[in-house]
Amino acid sequence: MGQLEGKIAIVTGASSGIGLEAARLFAEHGAKLVLVARRRTELEELANDIRRKGGDAIAVAGNVADVEAAREAVQVATRHFGGLDVAFNNAGTTGAQLPLPDMSVDMWHDVIDTNLTSAFHAAKHQIPAMLARGGGSLIFTSTFVGHTVGFPGMAAYAASKAGLIGLVRVIAAEYGPRSIRANALLPGGTDTPMGRAVSNTPEALAFVQGLHALKRLATPREIAQSALYLASDASSFTTGTALLVDGGVSITQT
Ligand SMILES: NC(=O)c1ccc[n+]([C@@H]2O[C@H](COP(=O)([O-])OP(=O)(O)OC[C@H]3O[C@@H](n4cnc5c(N)ncnc54)[C@H](OP(=O)(O)O)[C@@H]3O)[C@@H](O)[C@H]2O)c1
Repeated sequence: MGQLEGKIAIVTGASSGIGLEAARLFAEHGAKLVLVARRRTELEELANDIRRKGGDAIAVAGNVADVEAAREAVQVATRHFGGLDVAFNNAGTTGAQLPLPDMSVDMWHDVIDTNLTSAFHAAKHQIPAMLARGGGSLIFTSTFVGHTVGFPGMAAYAASKAGLIGLVRVIAAEYGPRSIRANALLPGGTDTPMGRAVSNTPEALAFVQGLHALKRLATPREIAQSALYLASDASSFTTGTALLVDGGVSITQT
């Protein structure tokens, strides 16, 4: 029996990378899914593929920086599937990598809106829907960047992702008494389009791999497995955490 049998889940950033793998894995474990990202074609292909394999998924194309996208995803989950149990709020962007003084105010806002304000929008609509079901699990994809390693050129990204850790602690405290859990997932370098864009030369890739005790990037599936853990009842006593799934970046000195 799947770990998410009978659960209804939203996965954002489902058109690529970690979100795409998490959507496949959640579906394999029995979840009914609402898939969110901007690229409609990729989402529709994934939803069709999940349905072909006997699962259930609906694509909702939208920009997570827009509060309407958060509202619509919850409405679709409620209308089509009957509620919401799990939200993997995973969509994100690094933005342009620039020295801080060269970063325009618009660039700053774009990254903060996509990575952090989106989390507020998501939680604002997801929490009431979970309360109506008697509880749920919120997961937000943060990162090791700015947490255990300060990467030059990633000020807005690191600040936005650190903000998610504060957010989950407050949600966990505020809604723990009503059986809602909230956790941040902190992947290490992961082999996705985003991960490859950051490590875009052989030298940069070797440098990033070398930061990890395991001396390699994660596969998206490895990160999705940790999202599955946080989504499922296997983590029923885990809330308010910043879960490092970083291949040992945080303890590597060599
Ligand atoms: N790869 C890494 O090394 C790494 C490490 C630590 C943390 N992370 C985090 O992991 C998460 C997933 O990243 P990934 O590595 O899987 O990258 P990815 O393959 O580039 O996927 C990013 C996803 O986010 C979606 N997205 C971006 N901006 C969006 C917006 N404004 N509205 C809706 N969806 C949006 C993209 O979909 P559309 O383009 O279709 O909108 C895509 O589905 C991100 O939050 C990232 O910060 C990644």
